[in-house]
Amino acid sequence: MKILSGIQPSGQLHIGNYFGMMQTMISNMESSELYVFIVDLHALTSVHDREKLATGTLEAAADFLALGLDPDKCIFWVQSDVPEVCELMWALSTISPMGLLERCHSYKDKVAKGIAPSHGLFSYPVLMAADILLYQADRVPVGKDQKQHLEVARDLAIKFNNQYGETFVVPEPAISETTAIVPGIDGQKMSKSYGNTIPIFLEGKQLKKRVMAIETDATPVEMPKDPDNCNLYKLMQLFADKERMEQIHSLYVNGGAAYGYLKLELLDLLNEKFGKAREKKKEYLSDPQMLRAILAKGADKAREKATVTLDLVRDRIGLSY
Ligand code: TYM
Repeated sequence: MKILSGIQPSGQLHIGNYFGMMQTMISNMESSELYVFIVDLHALTSVHDREKLATGTLEAAADFLALGLDPDKCIFWVQSDVPEVCELMWALSTISPMGLLERCHSYKDKVAKGIAPSHGLFSYPVLMAADILLYQADRVPVGKDQKQHLEVARDLAIKFNNQYGETFVVPEPAISETTAIVPGIDGQKMSKSYGNTIPIFLEGKQLKKRVMAIETDATPVEMPKDPDNCNLYKLMQLFADKERMEQIHSLYVNGGAAYGYLKLELLDLLNEKFGKAREKKKEYLSDPQMLRAILAKGADKAREKATVTLDLVRDRIGLSY
């Protein structure tokens, strides 16, 4: 089973990224053929600052490794190091119906948030389909916000196969029910572009400030509260064990849940979960040459796989004469 997923180096990675995708990928390391990559070409649709993109890419790599990804147990690389993906993207573009892309809400959401409506942003899902199909992935773990993009990848695989003969595996999305949409501190989906994130590697006072800013309602401590409509409760659920969550649930339903106290508890849990990774990240970042070597080795492995698919595609569509 080939499992594949990518992440954009377009800002600090946050706990939505962690629970939506990174954790799943890391936990699949032993049992599957795993493909993990940093999608710098996708990030170019929103980051036009050389320094920011270059350092962001190295940082995202350090993040993944610090959280436990073992580059010897997977293929781990930077998307632009395997430029074959751009050629496949072009081939897929020529069979991508405009209507299919026009229906993608992620494009509309990003434009509404102020990202320039470029052609690259519009064709983002086609590049993502190329990422997935190039490596013949069976399963793609993502957060719910990427569900529609996965449908585009599936549609294009099916269309290509029908038109040119069996070529691509039709990928399945893997979206976990409990972590499909991790809420941000304001209750909307946690997202770099909403400025509502809890970054995985934030520490000390800055982290405390972010956690204390989680928005809650004004219900007094002793009054019952609705856990299903509480952002803080949903975040606690990601970190607290089952027994503690049962206690917290009962405090919500019967009265006695103190938001301030729970936020401090969440802060402790965050530090417990990510404390070691934060130290490891510093070690990785202190040796960028080593990071580059890990990524270069990964790119070689990825390229080998990519070439096999691309040769087949070239032949199927008539680019071999
Ligand atoms: P990116 O970097 O925007 O997001 C990376 C992953 O994090 C998930 N995610 C969330 N999950 C739950 N709750 C949230 N609040 C939350 N915020 C983000 C995203 O769903 C994603 O899984 N387009 C992809 C990158 C990509 C890709 C690919 C993924 C490019 N090519 C090929 C899979 C396969 C993206 O959203 O990146």
